[in-house]
Amino acid sequence: MNRRKTVLATLAFVSLATCTVLAQSSGADTYKSKCAMCHSADGSASSGAGKAMHVPSLLTPEAKKASTASYVAIVKEGKGKMPAYGTKLSGPEINAVVAYIRTLQK
Ligand code: HEC
Repeated sequence: MNRRKTVLATLAFVSLATCTVLAQSSGADTYKSKCAMCHSADGSASSGAGKAMHVPSLLTPEAKKASTASYVAIVKEGKGKMPAYGTKLSGPEINAVVAYIRTLQK
């Protein structure tokens, strides 16, 4: 086995693993900076703008049942008063923020 290939493969693996960790923390950061003002830090939409705009709680049994794909689509395309983020966030950022919402729903 070519030694250089082994080194490259190891490097690729390490950088992928680092990306996964970064994506998780940036999901939380994105949520706190762009979503929490309407959805509340805990997803309950129980404060301020969330209440005023009748933002639905992300913590109901129905919300927990919603598919991850449908959440990604709503964040990308928007829905009613929910702004579209398809041009503001990258695909991986949207996946990360939806993954973060899933952790709030546990
Ligand atoms: C200006 C207030 C506002 C902001 C900011 C906002 N949302 Fe929303 N969001 C809403 C409203 C209102 C709805 C309900 C839309 C409807 O059903 O008509 C909603 C719905 C959703 C839903 C679907 C919930 C369900 O069960 O149907 C998801 C998922 C969601 N938002 C995620 C996000 C994420 C992620 C962000 C940040 C990137 C974000 N929202 C930022 C107002 C907001």
